[in-house]
Amino acid sequence: MSSPDPTRRAPHDQPFGPWVQTTLADGWDPEPEAPHPAVAGAARAAAAHRAGLLAALPGRAVVVPSGSAPVRANDTVFGFRPASAYTWLTGDQAEGAVLLLAPDGTATLYLPPTAGPGTLTYVTDRREGALWVGGIPSAATTAQQLEVQVKPRTELAADLAGVPHPRVLGGIETGLGEGDPELARTLDRLRAVKDDWEVDRLAEACAATARGFADVVAELPGLLAAGGRRGERWLEGTFWRRARLEGNDVGYSSIVAAGSNGTSLHWAPVDGDVRPGQLLLADMGVETTSLYTADVTRTFPVDGTWTPVQRRVHDAVREAHLAGIAEVRAGNQFLAAHHAAQWVLADHLHRWGLIAHTADDALHPDLHRPGAGAHRRYTLHSTSHLLGLDVHDCARLDGDEYLSTVLQPGHCLTVEPGLYFQVNDRTVPDELRGIAVRLEDDLVVTDGAARVLSDALPLDADGLSAWMADAQADAQAGARAGAQPRGV
Ligand code: GLY
Ligand code: MN
Ligand code: MN
Repeated sequence: MSSPDPTRRAPHDQPFGPWVQTTLADGWDPEPEAPHPAVAGAARAAAAHRAGLLAALPGRAVVVPSGSAPVRANDTVFGFRPASAYTWLTGDQAEGAVLLLAPDGTATLYLPPTAGPGTLTYVTDRREGALWVGGIPSAATTAQQLEVQVKPRTELAADLAGVPHPRVLGGIETGLGEGDPELARTLDRLRAVKDDWEVDRLAEACAATARGFADVVAELPGLLAAGGRRGERWLEGTFWRRARLEGNDVGYSSIVAAGSNGTSLHWAPVDGDVRPGQLLLADMGVETTSLYTADVTRTFPVDGTWTPVQRRVHDAVREAHLAGIAEVRAGNQFLAAHHAAQWVLADHLHRWGLIAHTADDALHPDLHRPGAGAHRRYTLHSTSHLLGLDVHDCARLDGDEYLSTVLQPGHCLTVEPGLYFQVNDRTVPDELRGIAVRLEDDLVVTDGAARVLSDALPLDADGLSAWMADAQADAQAGARAGAQPRGV
């Protein structure tokens, strides 16, 4: 690979004359060393992950690229987020990097070129110039932090020429198309079962998420007093600001949906007003600097007071949620939580007169029977998915394997039943139309009862109201004392 022309430029850039080119490259001290982003324990966890992969797929080298930032337009890109398997195997988060894992366990990271002080490119190149990009750890820092061999990416092609039949991870994140499907499936099969270090990272993400939720509910009284216009955006921003202030990000676009907007499962506009009397469905998760993400939903009245019908729907979803959680244990099928939660929802729907068939009929495994799936008009989505570095983790497992998973300690998954009554559904009585309730927690399977990682947030209607009041009182007390925003 040849070096970029140090004077290459975007159409809106001014050209560099010969005199300035000769002066710009000189006069620089070395840059201050940038820290590596790996969190404590990442290198050891990654080494164990590599050993697990080679045990599962021995005999051939493995190539896993980190990928590159998706293009937004022309030379502007969206924020970079490495392919999860790359970070899982390395602890690294560099863009444009490639892991070569030899069958004997030798791990080499090939890092993209960075032009440092002493070169014209340092000053002029928006992609490779360290002065433009900022915060790139040196190869030596990466090697020392991650306990792997590090080489320039320019040497990858030559090194690969001597490697017989390497398995390459493809996929959208890596930018490499199809790749080796057996490698992709094996990685997801291994990644589905988390070690203790990973569970700790998910617990951190859930704790950070709870702090973001507290900020959101603390702002509701002020938001309502100000009229609540585009309040969903304000609250989405509040959650994001908390995540960013703590050095984190969000693991997916926050779903912040007031009133009937919650009946759109992935309410994307997030631009609605927030008005007294509405429920707010907030599905939000912090992705920490380790890149593990939470995925948590609570639904609560924006003014803290439940109407009887809101409470009735919430109580039903909570009952389904608890029934689902009770089925998350080692030896049970992945789908056991789904069936338990959906049975409870179907039973309520039957007793409320929305579906004529009983819960047993609605949940009957013979999908050709009349009434089979009758509840699905109002429950809409599955109850669980795997969770980890990706919010919908391990999605390269094919559907049969995913759904027939037998849970074992270390599996991390959500339980997230919901009821959704569309405003335009003629089968729904007026009092229920526009009501949407979802409850979502993040769990890890253990030897005993599942551990609920997101249990800092209450589940029951009264508990939610009390939690809102507490968060609002805390925020007020902080404001009276002239404190910084909490946690800063
Ligand atoms: N936030 C997306 C989901 O709950 O699956
Ligand atoms: Mn989820
Ligand atoms: Mn969610």
